[in-house]
Amino acid sequence: MASVTARTSDIEKAAGVLRSGGLVAFPTETVYGLGANAEDSAAVARTFQAKGRPPSHPLIVHIGGAELLDDWARDVPPAARLLAARFWPGPLTLVLRRGSRVLLEATGGLETVAVRVPDHPVALALLSAFDGGITAPSANRFGSVSPTTADDVRAELGDVVGFVLDGGPCEVGVESTIVDATSEVPSILRPGGVTREDLEAVLGCPLAVPSSSRVRVPGQHPSHYAPRARVVLVEPEKVVAEAELAQELGHQVGVFLPAHLADTPVKAHAVVTLPASMPAYARGLYGFLRELDQRGCDLIVASLPAEEGLGLAIANRLRRAAGPRSNV
Ligand code: TXA
Ligand code: MG
Repeated sequence: MASVTARTSDIEKAAGVLRSGGLVAFPTETVYGLGANAEDSAAVARTFQAKGRPPSHPLIVHIGGAELLDDWARDVPPAARLLAARFWPGPLTLVLRRGSRVLLEATGGLETVAVRVPDHPVALALLSAFDGGITAPSANRFGSVSPTTADDVRAELGDVVGFVLDGGPCEVGVESTIVDATSEVPSILRPGGVTREDLEAVLGCPLAVPSSSRVRVPGQHPSHYAPRARVVLVEPEKVVAEAELAQELGHQVGVFLPAHLADTPVKAHAVVTLPASMPAYARGLYGFLRELDQRGCDLIVASLPAEEGLGLAIANRLRRAAGPRSNV
C-alpha cells in the first residue's frame, strides 16, 4: 500500500472543499482522481470543464464501501455482488442501473452508473470524512496521460484544482477494470487493475473483452492516454531497428525497450528499459510516457506485451496512446 498518508487536517480540509462545491484531486491505488460531490450538479459540471471533457462522457462514482452500493445502484445482480465482495476495495468498477442518488449529469445522461470502492488509505479516509459519493475521473486533461503522482496532477491541472491530496505514487498505475454488470453475463468494457483471469476465476465463466481498436463505450475513444509524442507500435524484435531508423531520419526518438533486450545498445534520444514484471510495468507506464515527453521526444517506439494478466490493460493503453488523434 501507499507509504505516504495525508494528514487528518488535510483530509478534513478536502472534505470541506467537496462540501462547498469545490474540486479535490486525491490518490487512489490506480491513478489520481479529480473529485467532486457526486450529488452537486454544479460541482460535477465543473469537473468536465476542468478536464476539457465533453459532458457526455460518464464519470465513476467512488463510494466508501460495498455496503453502500444500494444507495447508488439498483437491481444489483448476484454476479455484481460477488465481484464487489471479492474485489472491493480495489481496482474494479461496476456498471449497474442508476440509483436515485446519482445525477444524470454524472452519467452523461445514461440510465447506468459506474461505481467503485478505491483501495487507498487517503481515498478511503476522504470518503469517510466526506460521508457521500465522490465522482472522480482521472485527474488529467481530456485525452492525455493519467497522473500517478501528486506532481503529475499539478502539472496537468494545477491551475484549476483547488486542492491536491498527496498520497505518494499510485501502486497499480493503470485505471480500474470496468465491468458491465447490467447484462446476464458480465463483460469487460475497459481492462485495468483487476485481471480478466481473476474475474473469470470468481465468476466461473469467460468474459467478453472489446477490441481496443473500436469505440464501444461512451467516453472511450481510440486516442486516449496519449503523450505529446507520437507513439508507434512495432513487433518487439523490431523496436531497436525502427527506433534507430526514425532517429536517423531526424526524429527525437524515445524507446520502450523490452526487458529481454535490456543489454542491447540503441542509438536514440532517450531509452526506457521496461521492467520484466507486469505489475512493475503497469505501475511505471504513465510515468515512462511522461518522462519521454519531458525529455523532448517527438516519437516513441514501443511494442505490445502479451495480452494476459495486467498485460491486457497495458496493451489497451498503448494502443490508445498510439491511436488516431483527430477526435481529441
Ligand atoms: O481507476 C479509475 O477508474 C480512475 C480512478 C480515479 O478511480 N478513474 C477513471 O475515470 O479512470 P475516467 O473518468 O478517466 O474513466 C472512467 C470511464 C469513462 O471514460 C467511461 O468510459 C466509463 O468509465 N464509464 C463511466 N460510467 C459509465 C457507464 N455508465 N457505462 C459505461 N461506461 C462508463
Ligand atoms: Mg481518464
